[in-house]
Amino acid sequence: NDTNGTHAAGAGGAADNRKAAGETDLTLTTRQGHPVSNNQNTRTVGNRGPATLENYHFIEKISHFDRERVPERVVHARGAGAHGYFEAYGTFGNEPIGKYTRAKLFQEKGKKTPVFVRFSSVIHGGHSPETLRDPRGFATKFYTEDGNWDLVGNNLKIFFIRDAMKFPDMVHAFKPDPVTNLQSMERFFDFVSNSPEATHMITFLFSPWGIPANYRQMQGSGVNTYKWVNAKGEAVLVKYHWDPQQGVKNLTQAEAEQIQAKNFNHATQDLYEAIERGDYPAWELKVQIMEDGDHPELDFDPLDDTKLWPEDQFPMVPVGKMVLDKNPENYFAEVEQAAFGTGVLVDGLDFSDDKMLQGRTLSYSDTQRYRVGANYLQLPINAPKKRAATNQRDGQMAFYVDVAPGQNPHVNYEPSSLNGLSEAEASGAPHEPHYDANLVRQTIDRTNDFAQAGDTFRKLEQWERDELVHNLGDALSTCAPVIRDKMLSNLTQADPEYGRLVAEAIKKSSAMKAEHKGTFPAREGMEVAEELGHKT
Ligand code: HEM
Repeated sequence: NDTNGTHAAGAGGAADNRKAAGETDLTLTTRQGHPVSNNQNTRTVGNRGPATLENYHFIEKISHFDRERVPERVVHARGAGAHGYFEAYGTFGNEPIGKYTRAKLFQEKGKKTPVFVRFSSVIHGGHSPETLRDPRGFATKFYTEDGNWDLVGNNLKIFFIRDAMKFPDMVHAFKPDPVTNLQSMERFFDFVSNSPEATHMITFLFSPWGIPANYRQMQGSGVNTYKWVNAKGEAVLVKYHWDPQQGVKNLTQAEAEQIQAKNFNHATQDLYEAIERGDYPAWELKVQIMEDGDHPELDFDPLDDTKLWPEDQFPMVPVGKMVLDKNPENYFAEVEQAAFGTGVLVDGLDFSDDKMLQGRTLSYSDTQRYRVGANYLQLPINAPKKRAATNQRDGQMAFYVDVAPGQNPHVNYEPSSLNGLSEAEASGAPHEPHYDANLVRQTIDRTNDFAQAGDTFRKLEQWERDELVHNLGDALSTCAPVIRDKMLSNLTQADPEYGRLVAEAIKKSSAMKAEHKGTFPAREGMEVAEELGHKT
């Protein structure tokens, strides 16, 4: 039959292509393996006549195309990724690292673990410019001998909120208006001004730290507090940070705008081209540790992700280095379908009671079952390098069964005496924290929302502070007075000078907008579009 276009009168040139490639068979086929000899013309009744329904090759081609997109990530939709390796130092300062964690990947000096990293921006959609002010995601999948470990971090070391309950509201406020589909600073600051814990984060975000120059020259951080557990089952609290060996480089708003006018893919391009030319980016992994406990002596809670752990008290200790040396072979299969989650830990690493971390841990695998599918962990990018052996079966797109070599394939349950899978030996004493508290719905005691925001403001370099003040003034001048006032009150509590400077910047920006016939809300860019252009 001819429904695959396998008749002899093809479009021409196919045979030549095969020859040009030497012995390699480059013959186009359908997904059923049928060779396709005519990929140019649908089958019709006469060469001007109607098409027929038995055009199998055409229908398969178009209907697959119709399904090429999976839902983009609800956040962090735009990203770029690369493969590489992590090399352990084997020590924690002057001590063997095993004193603090039994995680195998860290133990031996020089031990290499393959990794895949996905960098991203957060709020904007899949093809949005990479110059926008936004945190950047920095998610790393370590394919360890004990299974996968995902360290799902951002470039900044802190976050906007401290309770996962607020995350959907935060994202809604930052994403486009549900009526107009426009993003607005008014929505953004409406949420932020009413969430004083975000004051610290926006102090970083509206400074040049909110627009990293590219992915290679930015830091990373796990942000949330985790635990390390040693062979005795003893735990310490830890925070993870990535330090780029290429140095840190951030952009001013004006610099970002210049790039954006010419290239909205610059960060993806920068990463891809650097790896292609053999200029492999590298990061050192640094860890801060704290004795497990609530630390009443500190003016912040160690489980509060809106706070930095002061480096003079909790030094950054290097524990290994990561190099990215291979680009993906296919963007969709590897970068788009990659699924990272904070629940993906290996033995020797554990969760803390950080409420954000606990909420995140549900969210990632939940969204991935929806976004990629129930069997997302069978995809090569997500599967552990050492094959998984489970009794989970079936579901959409199952394409192998997780049997161990020698396992009785009839036994898809446990326990069994018929050569099924059995439980692993415990690899060390369990970590079993004790709880004695009422079940409550409360904010943590030491919120201290403004002190560190003030410290960060004072520690910025002068040009960074100028940018911060200017950017906040510009953004807040487009917001309703009630929002401006709340924000100014929050900034003033962080540092009176911070509040004063931003108040002045708002006035300046409002005056400039009025002069340039700006209306409320801001219409910059609209006027340019109205004035420029050539009518025909
Ligand atoms: C992606 C939820 C906070 C870093 C995502 C995704 C969800 C999500 C649903 C999409 C995942 C996917 O489709 O594969 C949450 C929730 C949070 C939270 C509920 C707070 C409760 C954070 C924080 C960080 C972070 C604090 C930084 C440490 C990331 C990164 C990605 C991501 C890097 C992209 C991962 C990738 O490249 O595939 N988050 N997130 N998130 N999130 Fe979060």
